Amino acid sequence: MKLTVNDKQVAITAEADMPLLWVLRDLLSLTGTKFGCGGGYCGACTVHVDGKPVRSCLLPVSAAEGKKITTIEGLSKDNNHPLQQAWKEQIVPQCGYCQSGQLMSAAALLAQNKKPTDDDIDTAMSGNLCRCGTYPRIKKAITEAAKKMTVKNVGEHS
Ligand code: FES
Ligand code: FES
Repeated sequence: MKLTVNDKQVAITAEADMPLLWVLRDLLSLTGTKFGCGGGYCGACTVHVDGKPVRSCLLPVSAAEGKKITTIEGLSKDNNHPLQQAWKEQIVPQCGYCQSGQLMSAAALLAQNKKPTDDDIDTAMSGNLCRCGTYPRIKKAITEAAKKMTVKNVGEHS
């Protein structure tokens, strides 16, 4: 099976119903995407498929064939996405486990909504849980990144 992951074509051998998360972590060693609940509840495994945030623990790899898969490793060159910069400025992570999923959901939001309201942010991020309670810093970082992106007109891949 051929996949496009972070703008690269990769060939893998996997059952059609293997979760995309397993493929990313175990076959492609892209371990930035995390296993949390395995049941679609926590958002730790969030990646983009054709720009949309998806729970990779639930998505059979065959459903991602022929589509553009983006993981946290491919969100930007040199970790310079405005959200990644804002995450550092706001010192968002605590244990860090949920954060790549949080960033991928936030990036999908800002890719299609450059000026999200507080409600837009709450809705987009509602499926991403953080047991460390970093929610206020996540929201602040998204707000700050959105401001910078509006000024610079920076897209998903900066
Ligand atoms: S690991 Fe996929 S939603 Fe929790
Ligand atoms: S930073 Fe620890 S779970 Fe979110």
